[in-house]
Amino acid sequence: MQTAKRLDGIGEYYFSKKLREIDELNKQGKNVINLGIGSPDLPPHPDVIRVLQEESAKPNVHAYQSYKGSPVLRRAVADWYRRWYGVDLDPDTEILPLIGSKEGIMHICMTYLDEGDGALVPNPGYPTYRSAVKLAGGNCIDYSLTAEGGWFPDFGELERLVAEAGQAPQSQGGAGGPAGGGRIKLMWVNYPQMPTGQLPDRALFENLVAFGKKHGILICHDNPYSFILNDKPMSLLAVPGAKEVVVELNSLSKSQNMAGWRVGTLSGAKERIDEILRFKSNMDSGMFLPVQLAAAKALSLGRDWYDSVNAVYRERRGYVFELLDLLKCTFSREQVGMFVWARIPASYADGFALSDRVLYDAGVFITPGGIFGPAGTGYVRVSLCTPVEKFKESINRIKSKGI
Ligand SMILES: Cc1ncc(COP(=O)(O)O)c(C=O)c1O
Repeated sequence: MQTAKRLDGIGEYYFSKKLREIDELNKQGKNVINLGIGSPDLPPHPDVIRVLQEESAKPNVHAYQSYKGSPVLRRAVADWYRRWYGVDLDPDTEILPLIGSKEGIMHICMTYLDEGDGALVPNPGYPTYRSAVKLAGGNCIDYSLTAEGGWFPDFGELERLVAEAGQAPQSQGGAGGPAGGGRIKLMWVNYPQMPTGQLPDRALFENLVAFGKKHGILICHDNPYSFILNDKPMSLLAVPGAKEVVVELNSLSKSQNMAGWRVGTLSGAKERIDEILRFKSNMDSGMFLPVQLAAAKALSLGRDWYDSVNAVYRERRGYVFELLDLLKCTFSREQVGMFVWARIPASYADGFALSDRVLYDAGVFITPGGIFGPAGTGYVRVSLCTPVEKFKESINRIKSKGI
């Protein structure tokens, strides 16, 4: 059967393929330690599980749910945004619960991109931005993040990319862009940044909002890591006037240890939420109510919860630093989020070569940075989602193989 053209250039997701290979190695008795994927290995708070159990035992919670999500969850998201980010959101009109933030990336692209429309994507960045833009028929325009540039976008480069797309600033009537489509309509941004672990600052966020306003570009901020190893979570929506040009995705996958539950949120102006709901309501039929009520519980947890999660990651990160030192990688100890991003030594051609060596010789999988875009080629990424014992064993295996 001939697949649709929209799948041209879209491969199976890297991890989906790699996990199959690791399964094969395990069947051969290799007992691979997987330090690749960012899926929390710890459970959610016990109160969250209790709400799910109690609610799912009720007889009247099993029907289809509202396309806009439960009002209880929307209210919990609004309270969470006010408490931690200082952002006011109307729970009735400015919040849309999602079945994980990954689906939101696709919905946003499908809602705004016509064939050939441009979307700025970070290089390196989360691979789903790229594939969602392409699946929606859009055109990915990479912007570079470099160690020298502190992993922040270079606004000079962004201006050049917009000018190359033939797009005059809005003040010069540029919102329409070039005739026949091809206009840059979206920019994907993600801070704390994955994979580089870079924190945002206030000036960066203000510059992004100003850039979006200047060119009529919707700034799509993906914000799943703001609580991980960071005690000052920031939202792009906290910049005054941001709602005019910003939508923000958030997730319970990482900070609430609920990756498999599939709960995320989209926040933004009422008009944007309504537009994206027009697409999304044709794709799914709501989320299981007990999951939404348990998610609301998770969002009400206090500082103790985040401190306890971060104490675990902080201890593990110490071992990851040791492992990366052993591999003669160089890295910043200031980075945040669920991974450590490290430059490989010159003795390896690229991160794929180092990853393969460690996998095939020591049975330890670390992610090659090249899967996040060409700018990640000289890097590897190590996940913190594994118990300390496994890090110790990884270090011993690497030492014993003399890697
Ligand atoms: C940057 C980034 N955005 C979004 C996601 C998806 O998260 P969710 O589980 O909410 O779909 C991930 C997951 O790895 C991620 O790293």
